[in-house]
Amino acid sequence: MESIETLNLPEKGTKLNLEQAMFLALSEASKGASFVSPNPMVGAVLLDQHGGFISSGYHQFYGGAHAEVNALKGLRDEDLTGGHLIVTLEPCAHDGKTPSCARAIAKLPLHKVTYGIIDPNPLVAGQGVKIMSDAGIIAEQFSSNNKEIAAQIRIQLEEVCEAFLWNFRHKKVFVALKMASSLDGQVALKSGESQWITGPESREYVHFLRSCYDAVLVGKGTISFDNPSLNIRHPNIDKKNKVIVIDTEAELLNTCSELNLFHSHESQNIFWCIAEDFKSEIELKNPNSKLGPNIIYVKTNISGHLDLENLLEQIYELGIRSVMIEGGALTASSFIVSELVNRIYVFQAPIILGAGGAKSWTESVRIEKMKDKIQIQNPRYKTFGNDFMITGTFQKNRLETKNTNNQG
Ligand SMILES: NC(=O)c1ccc[n+]([C@@H]2O[C@H](COP(=O)([O-])OP(=O)(O)OC[C@H]3O[C@@H](n4cnc5c(N)ncnc54)[C@H](OP(=O)(O)O)[C@@H]3O)[C@@H](O)[C@H]2O)c1
Repeated sequence: MESIETLNLPEKGTKLNLEQAMFLALSEASKGASFVSPNPMVGAVLLDQHGGFISSGYHQFYGGAHAEVNALKGLRDEDLTGGHLIVTLEPCAHDGKTPSCARAIAKLPLHKVTYGIIDPNPLVAGQGVKIMSDAGIIAEQFSSNNKEIAAQIRIQLEEVCEAFLWNFRHKKVFVALKMASSLDGQVALKSGESQWITGPESREYVHFLRSCYDAVLVGKGTISFDNPSLNIRHPNIDKKNKVIVIDTEAELLNTCSELNLFHSHESQNIFWCIAEDFKSEIELKNPNSKLGPNIIYVKTNISGHLDLENLLEQIYELGIRSVMIEGGALTASSFIVSELVNRIYVFQAPIILGAGGAKSWTESVRIEKMKDKIQIQNPRYKTFGNDFMITGTFQKNRLETKNTNNQG
């Protein structure tokens, strides 16, 4: 989502071609990043019959008006006659928290609607297009003769609502991984000291990223070394997030009251993941478990660690649709080894910690042959103060192959 460039709105009447209008709709969509989950980020742009900019809108918060409705707000039929609506996602066909956008559009004197991608929600998928076409409005999926720009736009259309698409297509949690590392890929010294590797500009951006995901996930090492708060502290964002902790043997559960986490979050927003073998012991010790965090009992694998896929399945059932893993070294690398990461954000600071005595975020990742290297897709780069951030997605076919295998 951070890869989408934020564009200034043009003056009314400014002529935009289809590609420019779709880039603007994408920029509008990305403004909803912190508040729409589990809904998608969607943006819309309205052009008059001569291609002049009239208005724009975006889905601002979960349950709120959709992008199309916000773009059309306050306009009269005469403003819309012969107009062209450009929207990043197919207008919805069904009545959900808000009425059907496709049916509302069908009543308007618009000439054309161009949508970016078909909504994978079975309640919509193609039906929004049909409602508009049946009403005599040309409803077309975005395409362009400029192959390079078309490819860029298609990638951004998927990226801007990637968690939503992943949830609907695979019924799985979307997993992002964020690490702050030295130039030589280390995330902490051997002693466990890691604060701070990156500068304040990167750290403020991480608070924005926290707001884009339903929950932050960390391992118990990070809780004991750093005693982090893991809440959202951003000057422009007021939001409470959820936190998930991996603590297989419930070693830290009794120290909850001393942890900053419990001073910064209500306990119902904290999820403690423990091996299911400890269930009876814990229930015996903490009969009044309502006072503590939510406990998730997770299956273990052959080496006694939590089965991370089972963990994700359980949090999906609890309504958590996206997580951002924030470390530490072992937790990050375990998710990579399990091929469960969709997107990565690595902030690199211009410092060297030395591979000899520090921890790497790929601690347990072993690659023997260059042909097996993990290739990050569609990488994008940004700078924050003196730091550099790279983000991209993991090869789709790795995750999707895994998905198919699991279904079989
Ligand atoms: N630079 C950064 O971005 C950053 C961010 C966060 C933390 N840190 C630093 O990282 C350090 C902590 O990292 P850490 O690696 O020691 O601890 P950690 O990743 O926070 O915690 C270790 C966790 O990994 C789990 N684990 C280990 N192997 C596993 C496997 N094969 N499968 C599933 N889970 C597995 C452990 O579960 P069990 O309960 O089974 O042991 C434990 O919960 C601290 O020094 C902290 O300051 C740096």
